[in-house]
Amino acid sequence: MVNKTHWWRDAVGYIIYPESFQDSNNDGVGDLPGITSRLDYLKDLGVNLLWICPVFDSPMDDNGYDVRDYYKINPLFGTNEDLKTLLDEAHKRGIRICLDFVLNHTSDEHPWFQKALADPNSEERGFYHFRKGKWVDGKLLPPNNWKGFFATSAWERVGETDDFYLHIFSKKMPDVNWANPALRQRYYEIARHYLDLGVDGFRLDALAHLAKDMTFSDSTVPTDEFGRAYDPSKFSSRPELFDYLAEFKREVLDHYDCLTIGEVGGGVRPEEALRYVCFENGAINMLFNFDTAWCNGAYGSIDKRDDEIKTDIIGMKRSFESWYKSCAGKADLPIYWENHDHPRVLSQYGSTAYRGESAKALATLLLFMYGTPFIYYGDEIGMSNVTYSRIEDFYMDVGNRNDVEEKRALGYSDEQILHYLCRCSRVNARTPMQWNSSPYAGFSNVAPRVKVNDNYLEGVNALDEMNDPYSIINFVQYAIGKRKDPEIAALLKKPWKIVDMNHPDVFAYQHEGEDERLVVVANLRPYSTFFGFYHTIRDVVLHNYGDVIINDHVFTLRPFECFLLRV
Ligand code: GLC
Repeated sequence: MVNKTHWWRDAVGYIIYPESFQDSNNDGVGDLPGITSRLDYLKDLGVNLLWICPVFDSPMDDNGYDVRDYYKINPLFGTNEDLKTLLDEAHKRGIRICLDFVLNHTSDEHPWFQKALADPNSEERGFYHFRKGKWVDGKLLPPNNWKGFFATSAWERVGETDDFYLHIFSKKMPDVNWANPALRQRYYEIARHYLDLGVDGFRLDALAHLAKDMTFSDSTVPTDEFGRAYDPSKFSSRPELFDYLAEFKREVLDHYDCLTIGEVGGGVRPEEALRYVCFENGAINMLFNFDTAWCNGAYGSIDKRDDEIKTDIIGMKRSFESWYKSCAGKADLPIYWENHDHPRVLSQYGSTAYRGESAKALATLLLFMYGTPFIYYGDEIGMSNVTYSRIEDFYMDVGNRNDVEEKRALGYSDEQILHYLCRCSRVNARTPMQWNSSPYAGFSNVAPRVKVNDNYLEGVNALDEMNDPYSIINFVQYAIGKRKDPEIAALLKKPWKIVDMNHPDVFAYQHEGEDERLVVVANLRPYSTFFGFYHTIRDVVLHNYGDVIINDHVFTLRPFECFLLRV
């Protein structure tokens, strides 16, 4: 057992999608040396904890979430040596690194799966979920009606046999069988390998899904047009999962001062979170759940008009509050707007018409809540959703490819589908980092695999941002500096609460110290609104407009106006 120092509590995190951060060898794909070359940028920004999406060898069906070899860095991203260099250089700068560890599935090209296919009696066959299909009226159907996350059946037939294997994501990502102790040991070895190498922790991908309903019975939820039932309860937060995690903790995590961030999709309610993360006996440290990522009704919104997409600010505040109430004092809490699986937050809750104002308001809200904030790469320069004009531009995402097929089969036109993808696709958040205004935004010298957002030519790039004293990046850098100011840092640990929960436009909260409060007030609308305020302002620490309008205890808040105040 090592002594856990909980170093992440005061950290500022930053999420990197490696394919799109910085290409160092001009092959159109970002890489580890590219990240290393940008460490000074990150240090200057003030972040000190990176979570990097998967970098292991992979055929890239799901852009690295389909791992072929856990012990080898994906040649697209560099070499094992490059990872070591990145770790050393990051550590020299006081930056810690968490790798994205995919342990719910492998690639179908992983040697385990290849052996499992080649020899039904092999040990590896037991590493996956193989089941017989069902013959109905002369037709071979999957073993059950489960639908996966990527718009297909959760089963794929093995050649011409009666066997199927389970895949809750793409068919090139067979789920591994955590009920098998030998399989679990393989994962513990991988984890130890990277922790021994100097990695500071892991983001644990699709963690909620490791244990399945091993009866593999049909789901009783209503089925879709194709007879498939989308019922994540069959493979989310099942009781056995907590036994596996406890073992993982005992055998590996307890022996390192490492951070573990579990990804649990929308499948875990705040009340359940402590089973994963409570200080006394939770196996891991934090959960990313995404309750607060889709508060504008955009999820699955193909049938909605643009004017129907509006942030439910009260609902969003309630959600932050319920996570706080469940976790405060009992578990560590991460704070984030999005990751590589969502549209850009600027397009979700902000506004491209008020890019600067809204990006600053969102950054302020993020950085001063209770917990460890994670900035998604590019949010610090106001990156927004893509401007693609062809459905095919989204095809580097297997989820989107399947989605397009399904939507076409349901009768949607390509025009509707394109509009929907521009609003909701996760590719929105996967476009190359916009470093400057040279071709391909300074990301690469050649056309990147993921197309650059054209707005890098309109000032949305790091260099132009740095040169503007009132820019988003300068604001974010200053705000992170303020977050580290000892007096403010102490206030951040004080009890937190939402102010004026029922205000439909303003997200305001405070930390209540003994004789001082730290208050954030942010108008999240593209129009002005009023906000009553009865405190004596001691200091305006952050503000995104030039002057303050307050009359008779009422703020007039202009579009996306925000304050950080000491009162
Ligand atoms: C997680 C990842 C997502 C990936 C999926 C399958 O949800 O964040 O990007 O597609 O797991 O690994």
